[in-house]
Parts: sequence; structure tokens; C-alpha cells
Amino acid sequence: MTIAPALPIPATMRAMVQGDGDQAAIQEVPVPKLDEGDVLVKVDYASLNPTDWKHVAWLSPKGAVIGCDYTGTVVATTSHPRVHLKVGDRVAGWVHGGMYPDRGSYAEYLHIPADLCWKVPDNVTPQQAGAYGVPYCTAFHGLVHSQKGAWPPTKLNKWILIYGGSSSVGLYALQLAKLMGYKTITTCSPHNNDLVKSYGADEIVDYANPAAHLKIKEITGGGVDVAMDCISDAKTQAFCVDCFGDKGGQLNLTLQADPEVEKKRTDVKLVFTLLYTLFGKDISLAPRGQKNLIPAIPQERDFFAELCAKTPEYISVFGIRPPPLEERQGLDVITAAFEEMKAGKISGKRIVFKIGA
Ligand SMILES: NC(=O)c1ccc[n+]([C@@H]2O[C@H](COP(=O)([O-])OP(=O)(O)OC[C@H]3O[C@@H](n4cnc5c(N)ncnc54)[C@H](OP(=O)(O)O)[C@@H]3O)[C@@H](O)[C@H]2O)c1
Repeated sequence: MTIAPALPIPATMRAMVQGDGDQAAIQEVPVPKLDEGDVLVKVDYASLNPTDWKHVAWLSPKGAVIGCDYTGTVVATTSHPRVHLKVGDRVAGWVHGGMYPDRGSYAEYLHIPADLCWKVPDNVTPQQAGAYGVPYCTAFHGLVHSQKGAWPPTKLNKWILIYGGSSSVGLYALQLAKLMGYKTITTCSPHNNDLVKSYGADEIVDYANPAAHLKIKEITGGGVDVAMDCISDAKTQAFCVDCFGDKGGQLNLTLQADPEVEKKRTDVKLVFTLLYTLFGKDISLAPRGQKNLIPAIPQERDFFAELCAKTPEYISVFGIRPPPLEERQGLDVITAAFEEMKAGKISGKRIVFKIGA
């Protein structure tokens, strides 16, 4: 049963919607209906992830609403035991945008299970709140859930490589790794050295240096114990594997493991984080609505719900903060931002779009 909203909710909204082929455009579409346990969120800010343009280019079926990360205000709720939120609460998180006609953050409204979003602490601005989403959750999934890293923080005194420290995932991973007590080493372009240092990097190596992996082995006294590759193309995966010490270890990836890299060293375990399994539903990531079912993993949903419940505390107590932000206005500028991101022109920052009035 949907509880009556405090303000009238329109029947339709503006949203970025997948069209024919590899294009998406702004259209007028129905405001999503709520499932039991959901809240309806009026989107205030949404931010840009590589997965957003990748969905448009390769995956999204026609009619899907694009966009993952968001923050906004709850405008309607359902009566259900897991609904702890009320109309007027500020919330944030991410949805599997680009896959469904009623779920996406590049839209004026979205719906979300009430336990799979987090309440925004008062000292967090809407721009900041909208910029945690996918990369924040990916860093937690890799370093805490998958690697079983000690959390709340302790003193680990081991070397961790965060490959691609200036990426959005990398800047969250560096903060977590530093809090967890790791000795952190990262790679980035030299213009981002001060940035990654301020997010927790102890040692920094320029990945363009052909001897970068040797330098990492030298600094760490033989190689790292654990790693997260926040870029994860075949070349960076191979690089990361070469940075491990004699005992091997676990390398977490943000893209699928390259079969050739997997064969390189049997003592380095490659683990791919796929965030979309966190909603506890079967998903399909095949192009344009073809079926390639990845079954639901119930423990993944439990991890996500717990992370959402604790995120206000993680921000307030541990001070986990988003990357530097650049604000842009409206849904109409998103396609241009996709092109910038595809061209590799976004470095060491996140783009946040103001969606709501
Ligand atoms: N599996 C999942 O669920 C999941 C979740 C989140 C992200 N991802 C994937 O993870 C990747 C990173 O996402 P993101 O949002 O963090 O990206 P992002 O913020 O857009 O990354 C931009 C940064 O990447 C760095 N970079 C680019 N190529 C590099 C290379 N070859 N070596 C080292 N650094 C490089 C650049 O560093 P410099 O400017 O310093 O050179 C730049 O600062 C994307 O491919 C994304 O699709 C997957």
C-alpha cells in the first residue's frame, strides 16, 4: 500500500531514456510506480560513472532510464517492515540504471527499496551526497566484503596496491585502505600526486613509467600483499599481478578478469566485483535486453543493506569523503559529459548533475 505523498506527484517526468541503437535522449516518461518496501525519491543530484555511457553504448534495451548515482528527497513511501524512511528524508545511493524502464537516476524521480539507500547526514551537501554511489560501494565491496579486510579499521601493516588511485573508485579505495591500516601504494599521472596523497596514498608511482612495477616492488620490499585494480583493462591487470610479492595474494578487479592474466600466476587470485548483484535479484548484462542471466546472490543484498545502514556513521565517524566535484546543470548536458569521459578527459574528479529544481 502506498502512503499518500505530502506533495502532488506528477504522472510523468523528464528522464534520459535509451532509444534505438546506441543513443539515449531526454524524453517524457511515466513517474515510476512503487513496489512494496520502496520509497519514491525526487532526484536532486545525479553523478557520472563510466558504466552510464557503457550501458548506452552497448547494453541498455530501448526504453531503459539511464543513470546510477543519485541523491534526493523521499516524496512517497510504502507501508512495509523495511521502510524506516519518511517523506522529507534526504537519501542517497545508486540504482542499476540503464537496464529498466522505471529505474535510473538521470530522471526527476526514481524508486528504490528503502533499505538499499542511505540517509544523508546533515553536514553533507546534496552535491557531495550524490557523488558516493557506485564507486564508494565498489571500494567497500572489494576491500571489505570480498577481501574480508578488517572493518571497523585496525592496524594491518601490510602493503596494498590501489591501481588507478585518482579514479573515483580509487579515491574511495585509498581512503578505506588507509583507515584499515594498510601501507598504501598507488598509481596515477603526476598531476594527481597531491590529490591521491590527500586521500591516503603513502607512496605514488607514475604508471606511464615503463619500470613502474619494478619501482613498486622496490618500495614495498619485494611486492604487495593485496591489491585492487580500479581500472582493470588487460594491461593493468597484468601490471598488478606483477606487483605481488612471493606469497601472492588477492587482486580485486572492477572489470572481468582477462583469461590470459589469470594464467600468469596461480598464487594471485583475481576476483571481479560486479556491483549489480547487490540488489538481490537475477540480472542480465547481455547487450540490449538479450538474456544472459546472472542469478541473485542473497548475501550480496545483505552486505549492501548493512553498508547503507552504516554509511551515515562511516561518513560522520571516519570522514569518508567524495572525490573533488564539478557541478553541471540539468539532464541536457549529460550526453556531452559521456563524450568527455569516453575520451579520458575526466581525471581526478566526479561530475555531478543538478537534476531537480
Ligand atoms: N564492476 C563494477 O561493478 C564497477 C563499479 C565501478 C566502476 N567500475 C569500472 O571501474 C573503472 C573505473 O571507474 P571510475 O568511476 O573510478 O573511473 P573514473 O573516475 O572515470 O577514472 C578516471 C581516472 O582513471 C585513471 N586512469 C585511466 N586509465 C588509466 C590507466 N591505464 N592506468 C591508471 N589510471 C588510469 C585516470 O588517472 P590519471 O588522470 O591520474 O592518469 C583518471 O583519473 C571503469 O572501467 C568502470 O566501468 C566497475
